[in-house]
Amino acid sequence: MTRVLSGIQPTGDIHLGNYLGALRQWALDQHEHDSFYCAVDLHAVTVQQDPQELRSKTLETMATLVAVGLDPEVCTLFVQSHVPYHTELSWLLECTVSFGELRRMTQFKDKSTKQGDAGQEHVSAGLFTYPALMAADILIYDADRVPVGDDQRQHLELTRDIAERFNSRYGDTLVLPSAAIPKIAARVMDLQEPTNKMSKSTDSAAGSVGIFEDTSSIAKKFKRAVTDSDNEVLFDFDAKPGVSNLLSILGAATDRDPEILANDYDQYGPLKTDAADAVINVLEPVQQRRAELLSDPAELGRIIARGAEKASEVASQTVHRAKSAMGFLPLK
Ligand code: TRP
Repeated sequence: MTRVLSGIQPTGDIHLGNYLGALRQWALDQHEHDSFYCAVDLHAVTVQQDPQELRSKTLETMATLVAVGLDPEVCTLFVQSHVPYHTELSWLLECTVSFGELRRMTQFKDKSTKQGDAGQEHVSAGLFTYPALMAADILIYDADRVPVGDDQRQHLELTRDIAERFNSRYGDTLVLPSAAIPKIAARVMDLQEPTNKMSKSTDSAAGSVGIFEDTSSIAKKFKRAVTDSDNEVLFDFDAKPGVSNLLSILGAATDRDPEILANDYDQYGPLKTDAADAVINVLEPVQQRRAELLSDPAELGRIIARGAEKASEVASQTVHRAKSAMGFLPLK
């Protein structure tokens, strides 16, 4: 069976784009693959986090993975920091990847310049070595497929380069993964600025729909979604980004083709209402399930502990293999 792994940062709020574009697909595919999904809390601390908040967000992220339908009996759901082998393999990979390769990563360039150009004093070294840890997350499970958004493509390519180099230096040890970037993923754009992707950042609170937002607030956001003034319902992202976004979201939430849906409408009002209703319909059961899980910390704790145990079994073997290939003296 194909081994699949992906990670989700336990920071910010998970929004509709994450759900329709990724999480929902993970749940649909879980029976076809041997799936590993984790909350990447070690990646989160590459920028400073409030400890209390990191703890609660990590717990919420785990509840979310279960609430979207990932079955802890079917897949392995875990918290990255519960499996210490990730950081161990990461060091081996830091010594395999080059400084130049890390420096060329666009995510590092973007994030490090955003944090101010007053020298690089406030940019953590972890932000720089982040891709080696991500490579470790993937390679430690012998993952064949890594479902990620397009923004992670470069990290995936680097992961393959690192694995190839490791294998050519030390013999065939690591499995080369490939990115699984959905070709027809639902496009979910910001409701206020429909030429931008919906994002976690709080600068666009009115344009981004959190999957755990209360339903009246979701309805309000759809009602206020930006369209245009000519009142023609067409699925054409270039000419009509706002209207097309509503059709795309409605299509994704109801499993219908947005182009065909466009024929059902000749006004924006009903399209907005239907999109909101459809979204609320798919989110309500997820919201309910998450609330149940968060109100039963013992059950959630058991799920998390079981995940850590299952993940550690696989991860410890890979680290052992990699260390032995590199020539570390075995402990007798
Ligand atoms: N870097 C990814 C992101 O920002 C998160 C991530 C960490 C990840 N480790 C991973 C994704 C391993 C896929 C596989 O979205």
